[in-house]
Amino acid sequence: MEGRQNWPISSLSLLLLFNLLFILVNSTSAIDSSSVAAYTPPDNYLIDCGSPQDTKLDDGRTFKSDSASRSYLETNEDVQTSVDYISVKGFSVSSSALPLFRSARILKAVSKYTFYITRPGWHWVRFYFHPLPHPVYDLTSAVFSITTDEVVLLHDFFVKDNSTLVFKEYLFNVSGDRFSLLFKPKERSYAFINAIEVVSAPDGLISDSASTVPQGGTLNGLFQHAFEVCYRLNVGGPTITPMNDTLSRTWLPDTPYNVFPQGAQNASIMPSAVKYQQSGATPYIAPSWVYATADEMAESETLQPNFNLTWQMNVDPGFSYLIRMHFCDIVSQALNDLYFNVYINSMMSVSGLDLSSINNALSTAYYTDFVLNASSIRNGSVRVQVGPASGMQSGIPNAILNGLEVIKISNSVRSLDGLFGVDGSSGGGRTMKIVAGVGLAMAVTAMLLLAIVCIRWQQRPRDWEKRNSFSSWLLPLHTSQSFFSTSRSSSRRSSMFGSRTSKSGYSSNFSNQGLGRYFSFSELQNATQNFDEKAVIGVGGFGKVYLGVFEDGTKMAIKRGNPGSEQGINEFQTEIQMLSMLRHRHLVSLVGFSDEQSEMILVYEYMANGPLRDHIYGSKKAPLSWKQRLEVCIGAARGLHYLHTGAAQGIIHRDVKTTNILVDENLVAKVSDFGLSKAAPMEQQYVSTAVKGSFGYLDPEYFRRQQLTEKSDVYSFGVVLFEVLCARPVLNPALPREQVNLAEWAMQCHRKGVLNKIIDPHIAGSINEESLKTYVEAAEKCLAEHGVDRPGMGDVLWNLEYALQLQETSSQPQTDLPEDKCTGHITALEKPNGKVCGGDSGVSVGDDSQVTVTSPLFSQIENFQGR
Ligand SMILES: *[C@@H]1O[C@H](CO)[C@@H](O)[C@H](O)[C@H]1NC(C)=O
Ligand SMILES: *[C@@H]1O[C@H](CO)[C@@H](O)[C@H](O)[C@H]1NC(C)=O
Ligand SMILES: *[C@@H]1O[C@H](CO)[C@@H](O)[C@H](O)[C@H]1NC(C)=O
Ligand SMILES: *[C@@H]1O[C@H](CO)[C@@H](O)[C@H](O)[C@H]1NC(C)=O
Ligand SMILES: *[C@@H]1O[C@H](CO)[C@@H](O)[C@H](O)[C@H]1NC(C)=O
Ligand SMILES: *[C@@H]1O[C@H](CO)[C@@H](O)[C@H](O)[C@H]1NC(C)=O
Ligand SMILES: *[C@@H]1O[C@H](CO)[C@@H](O)[C@H](O)[C@H]1NC(C)=O
Repeated sequence: MEGRQNWPISSLSLLLLFNLLFILVNSTSAIDSSSVAAYTPPDNYLIDCGSPQDTKLDDGRTFKSDSASRSYLETNEDVQTSVDYISVKGFSVSSSALPLFRSARILKAVSKYTFYITRPGWHWVRFYFHPLPHPVYDLTSAVFSITTDEVVLLHDFFVKDNSTLVFKEYLFNVSGDRFSLLFKPKERSYAFINAIEVVSAPDGLISDSASTVPQGGTLNGLFQHAFEVCYRLNVGGPTITPMNDTLSRTWLPDTPYNVFPQGAQNASIMPSAVKYQQSGATPYIAPSWVYATADEMAESETLQPNFNLTWQMNVDPGFSYLIRMHFCDIVSQALNDLYFNVYINSMMSVSGLDLSSINNALSTAYYTDFVLNASSIRNGSVRVQVGPASGMQSGIPNAILNGLEVIKISNSVRSLDGLFGVDGSSGGGRTMKIVAGVGLAMAVTAMLLLAIVCIRWQQRPRDWEKRNSFSSWLLPLHTSQSFFSTSRSSSRRSSMFGSRTSKSGYSSNFSNQGLGRYFSFSELQNATQNFDEKAVIGVGGFGKVYLGVFEDGTKMAIKRGNPGSEQGINEFQTEIQMLSMLRHRHLVSLVGFSDEQSEMILVYEYMANGPLRDHIYGSKKAPLSWKQRLEVCIGAARGLHYLHTGAAQGIIHRDVKTTNILVDENLVAKVSDFGLSKAAPMEQQYVSTAVKGSFGYLDPEYFRRQQLTEKSDVYSFGVVLFEVLCARPVLNPALPREQVNLAEWAMQCHRKGVLNKIIDPHIAGSINEESLKTYVEAAEKCLAEHGVDRPGMGDVLWNLEYALQLQETSSQPQTDLPEDKCTGHITALEKPNGKVCGGDSGVSVGDDSQVTVTSPLFSQIENFQGR
């Protein structure tokens, strides 16, 4: 009893002591990092999905077992799986999180996690994914989406490689008292998840406005967005685990992204020496461990360095990014000694940054935010550079960076993955407007480039054919001349890579330009058994396409041009140029090329299932089902939509046809063959050009007026849609006159209402009527006489997705879950309010088939596979 009465007194004295300390600390006008209270999140849900017991990590956090967190989950069918250990090659998460990847929950139907939120505001949501082996479910083939009520977090997400660990981190403002995560497997697939975190974050992590690059502008309204943290780097230092960050963040070393590591050297001080001041960063912005290490320029004191420290990270184009840089001058001996410039994607962000003048002190934490607009991301990468400011009177030329975060900003329909919002609305329309505005300058640049190419082509040396390489006049356009010492040395290796060093013919400079690998001719000879006819997998106007199998077993498609053909060279050149600008899941990617010995060889990713046409008619392959056809068309439409409006913007393919749409082993469609593609100038709306393309697919308006627009591709795609539906060649001279041209014939049948008669009999019985209607309407609009009346690819894509949804909903049995019915709603046109329904459906959780896999089986499987 006595002890209890003493309580108030001792706590009072404690309080006094605390106050005293506070005053002491405050009097130095800086907050010492160690005195900052650890952050205790009001909401703190940590779940180790599928795990039979709680998991305690090295960093002190405990993740709840699956059974203890079962009440958050509404699902009908799910399976848990766990293994004793996992074998992975490399991973980009902190090793302290490894135990979380050892178990997973497999969700076979639409499922929902719901959390009660005690304090609305910013929250972290973190996901851990690793496709564990399972005797029934192959998690590497799982494809699924994850959304909240308002934000699309992941769209058609998958983890193909069973040796990687995937970590995703999001930050957004939760407003209600409930928060849901909806897992939606793709048709006939399933979802899985290894661990989930939903954790409160303090206010003030993000401010509502940030500077834009290039220097000068300000962007307001960041609070309206959701964020995904793509990179968080502790520059010049080791991994910082959640143990050393009170917000449980992981900071990874910067070395994999440092483009020129020889030019950098690390600096560090004791973390306790880092000062936080009112005007700068707080320990919540970044822990002192981040500010205590940095990269500076190597030997800045002895040499006069004149280069930039450069970090380059790949990002998903089509989104804007918040770039946060952390600085703390831990290298200067005196104030006003260090001035440097900061660039993002080669645009000046800060010139003459003087950290010491901001706080009048050294070793003080400071951070700065920039918004990089989607239109400034041209080749899918973010590049941050710091370099000495020239023209500064005093100081040693040097530059530093302590920490770097690259954070994706949700787009106009609140999606962080893909163009579509939770309610199925498309961001395409608005993107297009942005493109129209910003793209002008880029399109002009593109045209200029093309013009230069043409001029250079006109002025090509007369003897160009005699030289071993024809690309010496072509490629310097991509980059500064200095990269390629264009020494016309006599050696047969004298291609554009004067700087090439390695025997393999690999040019690191060149690959940095995004043009891919340089292959030596002999390497390609080996891969194709000296271009054996047996290896031919396709023949086109440009030449033959061979299947190449390299020493390490990888397969690639090798396209060899007919040497010396002038048209071939043009197309070769266009294709390299186009593809080097383009990276997209639905475009065939260029792996590299070779131009040795007057050869023109392009090396692409190998598309195991070949052209779409072979899966529709005219080959021995089994015809695709209606749903598969829709999926392939959607993929191709995505690819074209990206060409027209995506990061590369304003590219017209010019040769859209079923033989140029290839499918890979998973039936993912990719658009190929950019040999005829053109960049469209924005101000002019069309390109005047000699008519090229394939008959039967040609836009009649383009044919008449020789003016090429994106709508010409839309026309060709409309023909493709009918070809896919009717399974016959687009031109068949053997047929009666009115039927020769598929586009005309199909439109005629459609007008007469007898289109059903010409639908491919393989699929005719299985098509849902509404789905067909939507599809045919889209195809019909594409074939409109005048380009202006045709829809954009974004609209076509939208309609195809809708047709797929209609087909999927119709083919589901009556006994469906309430959630499944809701799927139709999500994308249905007449559902504008954007709410994901199913919230109060009260799905029972009784009869889930829990398969707890015993670990010995897995070790056996692993051993077996290891042998
Ligand atoms: C991963 O997949 C490969 C090929 O599919 C297989 O050989 C390997 O055993 C798998 N590894 C694990 C750990 O399941
Ligand atoms: C979060 O959203 C709510 C409701 O929309 C709003 O009142 C609040 O100010 C937001 N918080 C922040 C930090 O933006
Ligand atoms: C700094 O670099 C050296 C040599 O590269 C390395 O041994 C050391 O561990 C690094 N220090 C930190 C803190 O990363
Ligand atoms: C993390 O903190 C512990 C002590 O709290 C310290 O020993 C360790 O070196 C720190 N590690 C890093 C990477 O910051
Ligand atoms: C540093 O990078 C910027 C932007 O890429 C460039 O303009 C500048 O010339 C570079 N500075 C040096 C010294 O290379
Ligand atoms: C990107 O730039 C365009 C044109 O300046 C602007 O309309 C758009 O809002 C910007 N986007 C973001 C996310 O800042
Ligand atoms: C990306 O584009 C910029 C110019 O827009 C260029 O300087 C840079 O080298 C390119 N990076 C890659 C990897 O192609």
